[in-house]
Amino acid sequence: MADLYDETRVFDQGCFDAALDWLVDRFPPQRFSNVFYPGIGTGRVAIPLAEKGYRITGVDISAKMLALLERRLRQMEQTLPISLHKADVTELPFGTATFDMVFAVHLFYFIGNWQKAVDEMMRVLENDRPLILMHTGTGAEMPFLNERYRELCSGQGFVIKDVGVKSNREVVEYLEKGGYHAEWIRDRWQWTSHIRPDIALEYIRSRAYSFTVSVPDEVHSEALNRLESEVMQQFGGLEIAVEVPNQIYLVVVSHR
Ligand SMILES: C[S@@+](CC[C@H](N)C(=O)[O-])C[C@H]1O[C@@H](n2cnc3c(N)ncnc32)[C@H](O)[C@@H]1O
Repeated sequence: MADLYDETRVFDQGCFDAALDWLVDRFPPQRFSNVFYPGIGTGRVAIPLAEKGYRITGVDISAKMLALLERRLRQMEQTLPISLHKADVTELPFGTATFDMVFAVHLFYFIGNWQKAVDEMMRVLENDRPLILMHTGTGAEMPFLNERYRELCSGQGFVIKDVGVKSNREVVEYLEKGGYHAEWIRDRWQWTSHIRPDIALEYIRSRAYSFTVSVPDEVHSEALNRLESEVMQQFGGLEIAVEVPNQIYLVVVSHR
């Protein structure tokens, strides 16, 4: 997934910049400088954050993602304040109340014991400081194709079980039960993506998304064949641009 990751997660640059401006305004890097970024990946979001003046400590469980990010950082002209650790977010190698902010993007879908990961993030965060969840949109996906793929797998007797959460809402509900307060910043940074079904289908075919990973080969190819013919029927072709509504949102979680 590492090599494909960034191209599957495209977003509207203007919306992304506006979301970061909002963050800087609300939580200025001068006061919230020491940021923990769990599941830092290729640095797609961490690099722009560091460029805004935040000092980032990132962890990731994937050596390949970290290697990509290290190479990217080496190739940059300026030296950014990003330090990297290979670690599992369910067992963090940091002391309690170490950070001024935790910033997590597209992470909890991949973690079976995501509640433990959330607990660890809140442990390393200073008491009165925020956890920010960011969602950068559905990238190169066509969400209704993903849903239909799941249905077509179920129809063949293979029910896809999600590894972690299905959406950030589950994470927020867990935190609210633990006494935290969540503020959703949404419906501000919106755009319409134009996605070609053949490209969206190709990402599913190459198993770029985690929900495809456990599907047996024969179920996977049968589901894709059916999906492709349904798309042909619905849109009259695979190489036309289909409009997909998209948005970036943030959730700010803190003590009441
Ligand atoms: C979908 S990517 C998101 C990367 C980055 N946050 C972004 O939005 O560009 C999820 C990242 O979390 C990492 N990851 C998954 N499970 C993890 C765990 N238990 N501990 C640390 N990192 C993990 C993956 O290796 C991957 O780099």
